[in-house]
Amino acid sequence: MDRNSAVGVFDSGLGGLTVVKEMLRLLPKERIVYFGDTARVPYGTKSRSAIVRFSRENTELLLSRDVKMVVVACNSSSSYAIPVLKKHYPVPVLGVIEPGARKAAAVTRNNRIGVIATAATINSGQYTRNILKYNPDAQVISQPCALFVPLVEEGWLDTAATRQIALEYLAPLKEAGVDTVILGCTHYPLLREVIQRTMGTQVTLVDSATEIAVRVRELLGRSDMLRVRGRAVPRFYVSDKPQEFGRIAKNFLGRELKAAKITQGTGHV
Ligand code: DGL
Repeated sequence: MDRNSAVGVFDSGLGGLTVVKEMLRLLPKERIVYFGDTARVPYGTKSRSAIVRFSRENTELLLSRDVKMVVVACNSSSSYAIPVLKKHYPVPVLGVIEPGARKAAAVTRNNRIGVIATAATINSGQYTRNILKYNPDAQVISQPCALFVPLVEEGWLDTAATRQIALEYLAPLKEAGVDTVILGCTHYPLLREVIQRTMGTQVTLVDSATEIAVRVRELLGRSDMLRVRGRAVPRFYVSDKPQEFGRIAKNFLGRELKAAKITQGTGHV
């Protein structure tokens, strides 16, 4: 493993491509190996023990590709599995919760922060814990938004139904007067416009995907592990339905994926 080894990224499915997109923007020279567990998505409705088990298997798959670090793009996995992954594997492991929470704790002006995420992420309480670590005066209003993931996968990014559902989910956050909202799920950056319109332009949206890409760059830089030459093409592995991955991935990544770069994982599920 050296500076030319890839950065491994995993997610429950294709939502983690929002993280890949930010990494490609901030770290264009890094090789990226992405694994999407499309056979077992969603994780956001599953138990802690299932999420931890899946996360370990995903990490082992990435390590078999000789990655120099593992980025857990999935908020639900990051909520439950980070301590286990850090303990058991020999490479740095970064999750999305802490960078997103730190940013929100820093940018709020009225100390009222909303967190929207899957049920698993909200139930873990990790965003709240991490926000309070950086800003003990913060008041955190959490809201699970179960319907957002299927809406995004359906490509309903700004339909009347999406706007209505956003209005209902976000009402408690508006009532509480939050000035900052964490998009605590891989899929939510795609609903950014609807969420911003619903909350109002004065509310700051914190995108965990951007924050983790910044952190990856910091960490690799500090440990002298940044890849210095070339422009790398990311590689994608999924545990099921590679064709569908390619189709939906365009929305997440903002560009076409060539089918050849998508390989169906085997022996994993
Ligand atoms: N990737 C998941 C997350 O960020 C969303 C999709 C799922 O529920 O698996 O929590």
